[in-house]
Amino acid sequence: MSEAFYVTTPIYYVNAEPHIGHTYTTVVADMLARYHRLKGETCFMLTGTDEHGDKILEVAQERGTTPDAVATEYAQLFKKTWDQLGIDYDRFIRTTDPDHRLVVQSILQKVYDAGEIEFKEYEGLYCVGCERFLTDRDMVDGLCRDHERAPESRSESNYFFNMGAHFSWLAETIEAHPDFIRPEHYRNEVLAMLSEESGLGGELCISRPKERLDWGIELPFDNRYVCYVWFDALINYLTGVGYPDGSEFETFWPVSEHIIGKDILKPHGVFWPCMLHAIGAPLPRHLNVHGFWNLDNRKVSKSLGNLVSPQVMDERYGFEAFRYFLLREMVFGQDSSFSEPLLIARINADLANNLGNLVSRTLNMTGRFADGLVPRAGAPGEAELVIEETAARVTSEVDEHVLSLRPQRALESIMGLIDATNRYLELREPWKAAKDPERADQVPTTLYTCCESLRVTAVLLSAFLPQTSHEIFSRLGLGNALEGAFLPELTRWGGLEAGLPTRKGPPLFPRIEVTEDSK
Ligand code: MSP
Repeated sequence: MSEAFYVTTPIYYVNAEPHIGHTYTTVVADMLARYHRLKGETCFMLTGTDEHGDKILEVAQERGTTPDAVATEYAQLFKKTWDQLGIDYDRFIRTTDPDHRLVVQSILQKVYDAGEIEFKEYEGLYCVGCERFLTDRDMVDGLCRDHERAPESRSESNYFFNMGAHFSWLAETIEAHPDFIRPEHYRNEVLAMLSEESGLGGELCISRPKERLDWGIELPFDNRYVCYVWFDALINYLTGVGYPDGSEFETFWPVSEHIIGKDILKPHGVFWPCMLHAIGAPLPRHLNVHGFWNLDNRKVSKSLGNLVSPQVMDERYGFEAFRYFLLREMVFGQDSSFSEPLLIARINADLANNLGNLVSRTLNMTGRFADGLVPRAGAPGEAELVIEETAARVTSEVDEHVLSLRPQRALESIMGLIDATNRYLELREPWKAAKDPERADQVPTTLYTCCESLRVTAVLLSAFLPQTSHEIFSRLGLGNALEGAFLPELTRWGGLEAGLPTRKGPPLFPRIEVTEDSK
């Protein structure tokens, strides 16, 4: 049986349009799923929307409509956006889906029956933006650190999950599996949250009285309450693969990879493992945490009103170019800055100059000196062997980087192969060699080496830039080059057959001239 791979994005709140932050997480997940498919693994990618909670009710009230109508409108917007941008997810889950409600209720009942849920009075400061009660550490000058708004004082009788009972188990588990939360820095943050000094407290309020909020999943053991939105939302990762007894659950849960932004580390790094432990389910394989995209040094988010829309980026630059920028620019785990001049500089340097040049020079010369057909190579010389070795090295580096969640390094490595091939072309100068009787017989080998390097590049790029990769295959006379073939065979040197009809085509990524608008 082939290996399996399961990747999830956070499910997005239905109160904001898709922006750069959502797009980054989604693109990383899509890239990982594509890469693992390329290795012949059975893959499942889950994304969707988080639709319950005060936040959505607030939007509905502001607009004089129902939460259900708001949720449906935004869920469709997210789904349509990912569809248009070519995100290849396997399920788009909505927390209002009937199967999800059943799973959440069955888990609540299970935890309740195990005696881990208690009913009592609670008083605290609640942030609607975070959908939770805040601790002192969550606030600066009386305002929520993330949302820059004042929390409300609330006192309620509620149900509490005794997650603290699982803290010492969780801390030990994290210590014993140091790469469960990665990069390392976030593992340490979770360990700090679990320590007594953090003030986190071991009780998680998991209910909301219906008299205040009736937009949610009803508690199976008390119909006066609905479930707290985070307890409901996290469970989507189980519903998505058929928990508790679907065969997909058995296949995919043990190999699950969550991708999240650093602002939701606490629910994923603390609440979720405790919930899973309480129901006797294993932990996901990894919790992968990325940083924030900043604009003018502030986090891009709906509440701060500075959106970078993936559709606008698509219209202006093409989604593949934006996707490249996101994956190449951000060091996974750290914060990055977004600006259009940075985006343009990246596109011009890497895609227009480096990749675009190699494609156009190789295919133009194959047209001129080989009747447009992939030539047959002669015996390789030293320079050809260097390219062949570079391709093999880059293939293994890409694998290592992707598996260790370093997309930026994987792309850097692929650019290195393209760069080496451009330099090889300069060295061999087929445009001159073709006219030189002493060197003319080198030309087919030179052009074959470039075409083959482009093929390997297109294979490696396929998870990152699927459309661009497809276009390169098509120009090399290869149809669906990825069908029925997998890594590492796909990148084995010499896989390109001589005689295939190539096609020049327009520039893959035209150079973008910097205008006053984009400065
Ligand atoms: N609904 C919760 C997640 C529940 S998962 C069981 C949520 N939704 S969200 O729509 O607010 O955010 C979703 C993701 O977008 C989070 O991973 C968050 O980190 C990410 N981003 C939002 N703004 C961001 C940036 N400016 N930069 C990078 N990602 C950030 O949280």
